[in-house]
Amino acid sequence: MMNCSLISAILFAVILGSTNAFFSHSNINARRTSTSSSLHMTILTANGQKVDFKEGSPLSSACAKLGVKPKYSCKRGDCGSCTVSVGGTRIKACVGKVPPMPRLKSLQEKGLEVK
Ligand code: FES
Repeated sequence: MMNCSLISAILFAVILGSTNAFFSHSNINARRTSTSSSLHMTILTANGQKVDFKEGSPLSSACAKLGVKPKYSCKRGDCGSCTVSVGGTRIKACVGKVPPMPRLKSLQEKGLEVK
């Protein structure tokens, strides 16, 4: 009788331990970061407008929504005629992507200016 309760207690502890292995905090945090990374947005400003864009989306469509009209020529990234300044960084609008949000809180609130 004593052995039976001891064995059941050990089995319960083993089952409980294996359940925690599947739901450890590191696994939960890894899942959170993978889902939240797909929702990163970048604020771009131009002509008095402030619009949220998904990080990595085409810069050409972001420029069009903001009313910025780069001069497109080759549309392959060769000539550089469509180069725009996004927060001080020069990016070719035809092949460029919306950059990630800067880490500085002041820039996050103000947004990256597109010229
Ligand atoms: S149009 Fe030539 S680099 Fe963009």
